[in-house]
Amino acid sequence: MASLTLRGLRKKYEELEVIHGVDLDIDDGEFVVFVGPSGCGKSTLLRMIAGLEDISSGSAKIGEKIVNDVAASKRGVAMVFQTYALYPHMTVYQNMSFGLKQAKTDPKEIDIRVKEAADILQITDYLDRSPKNLSGGQRQRVAIGRAIVRDPEVFLFDEPLSNLDAALRVQTRLEIARLHERLGSTMIYVTHDQVEAMTLADKIVVLKDGYIEQVGTPMDLYERPNNSFVAQFIGSPKMNIFPNTDLPQKSKSVLSKLKDKKIDLGIRPEHLIECKEKDAIISGKLDLVENLGEYALVHMTSDNGMEFIAKLNNSPTEKKGEKLYFKANKDFVHYFDSSNGDSI
Ligand SMILES: Nc1ncnc2c1ncn2[C@@H]1O[C@H](COP(=O)(O)OP(=O)(O)O)[C@@H](O)[C@H]1O
Ligand SMILES: [Mg+2]
Repeated sequence: MASLTLRGLRKKYEELEVIHGVDLDIDDGEFVVFVGPSGCGKSTLLRMIAGLEDISSGSAKIGEKIVNDVAASKRGVAMVFQTYALYPHMTVYQNMSFGLKQAKTDPKEIDIRVKEAADILQITDYLDRSPKNLSGGQRQRVAIGRAIVRDPEVFLFDEPLSNLDAALRVQTRLEIARLHERLGSTMIYVTHDQVEAMTLADKIVVLKDGYIEQVGTPMDLYERPNNSFVAQFIGSPKMNIFPNTDLPQKSKSVLSKLKDKKIDLGIRPEHLIECKEKDAIISGKLDLVENLGEYALVHMTSDNGMEFIAKLNNSPTEKKGEKLYFKANKDFVHYFDSSNGDSI
């Protein structure tokens, strides 16, 4: 186990800089998730930590040691990829033991470690099989097993669940959470899926265009996003952001303190409450209802033509084209500077 310290970390491909000076502290034993849209630099950052990409400038420290110039195999990290990257001509056992064999580990020790990892991941029965005779979920477990046997200081996962179907993704996500609990190792996990980030992380790092937008616990990001990007990236369906033209009378006191700024208003779908016209802060016409049994997602167009979503406990009685009115508890209303999206 080890902590990680990144300082001023930059990555350039020729003239193109894709990581713009990342500062980040990861505690020993922490489960950290890098999340952000495709192309924001998650994999690049992870690969720089792993030693699979050069660091253009800045420093990466694992434990007390700066690892910029340390070979990937000597950094004490093990990586699990989306594509599993198993050797097709080797059995599961051989795949899991390969790295240790290369490192000239005692065969008895290898055997103990492989069997222990197989036991943790419930793949003992498949040890003699070839990867091609395994399902996607089983292959990903073998890839995780191959990381476990190396007993790394830090586990690195790059979108490990992306190739699995929806049900298996949920199951394997739980297994990774249990694995972290059991091993207590430092883990860094990359995903574009905010649900994985929210459910797995001790700490989430939200990335956009090679910059960190915010670092915090899942609830920090949900309740106190730094800006409208984080606000809309975390939470599903995403937060509604009403341009300042839609601002309700009730928030005028906030506005009066900020005369020079144009402000947008953010309210999550789950915080909109259907109400009478006189109590409403937002109203609009009903476009579509998605009834999910437990709740209904009501798609609306505001009086100013903006689309928004309300999450209601029951499907509304109103029909398409009819008007609905909503209020929200002021504690759940977010304010953003219209010019740059920063939270106010
Ligand atoms: N080998 C490379 N050469 C040039 N640009 C690259 C290379 N690898 C990645 N990039 C660019 O770096 C950015 C970040 O990529 P990546 O880290 O793969 O994003 P993510 O994992 O968040 O989807 C993207 O704009 C991508 O096009
Ligand atoms: Mg990636």
